[in-house]
Amino acid sequence: MYNVRGSGQMKALDDVSFTLRSGRTIGLVGQSGSGKSTIAKILIQLETPTSGEVLLDGAPIPRRGKALRSYRQQLRMVFQDPFASLNPYHSIRYHIERPLRLGGLAANDQVDGEVRRLLERVRLVPDAVIDRRPHELSGGQRQRVAIARALASRPTLLVADEPVSMLDVSIRLGVLNLLADLQREEGLGVLYITHDLATARHFSDEIIVLNQGRIVEQGPADDVILDPQNPYTRELRAASPDPERHFASAAGNLGGAQ
Ligand SMILES: Nc1ncnc2c1ncn2[C@@H]1O[C@H](COP(=O)(O)OP(=O)(O)O)[C@@H](O)[C@H]1O
Ligand SMILES: [Mg+2]
Repeated sequence: MYNVRGSGQMKALDDVSFTLRSGRTIGLVGQSGSGKSTIAKILIQLETPTSGEVLLDGAPIPRRGKALRSYRQQLRMVFQDPFASLNPYHSIRYHIERPLRLGGLAANDQVDGEVRRLLERVRLVPDAVIDRRPHELSGGQRQRVAIARALASRPTLLVADEPVSMLDVSIRLGVLNLLADLQREEGLGVLYITHDLATARHFSDEIIVLNQGRIVEQGPADDVILDPQNPYTRELRAASPDPERHFASAAGNLGGAQ
């Protein structure tokens, strides 16, 4: 429930329930304003739901202390805007070191090596970026840094809210393929939020369709996109460029250097 000036309260989500499992990707699709980011914000505790709860391994999110820190380490977020999510005053090294130090995840003499390993993990050349500031990098490189920072705390779950919609079209697939590779290799559970049905289908096991804060359809990705049952999903599909298009996995390498 959001308080909206002049018009009282507005229910952004209603009766939304789903389970994100490690090793699986859920695509969360819906038009702008359907409530996708509100779900992400509730998961990372930027918003508190008026009712309902988030459970991790069956237990409610702890309110404080070590258990809360552990929740925050386990569930990381990649934001839509790679320009806003990194601090312009700090180096790339600083951004990735921080979660390592805060989480006590690397001894002092191992921090540099771990930062470099994480940069390689997102297919950046450590020497080329480690001492640079965010503005010296391209949008795609910045989003890779944001992903490396998320991985630094060794999460089990990753929420990616429109992670490529602000990037040049030519490098989007590279970043999505990277996320898919990391998801497989690390056994991450990923909530992939997007309004693009084609990539939602390609990169997700399951799809949830959100309309005006309610889940209108949910199921295996191919079923939902190729044979939608709900009229709203059919509308989305009809309005979408080509939800049946396929992606060559080799395309990932094209975006790798961006
Ligand atoms: N902080 C806020 N205060 C009031 N209304 C909000 C706020 N954030 C989002 N909303 C409203 O909640 C609805 C869902 O928004 P959002 O979750 O951002 O949708 P999406 O990410 O699918 O575009 C929209 O109608 C939006 O205007
Ligand atoms: Mg949004």
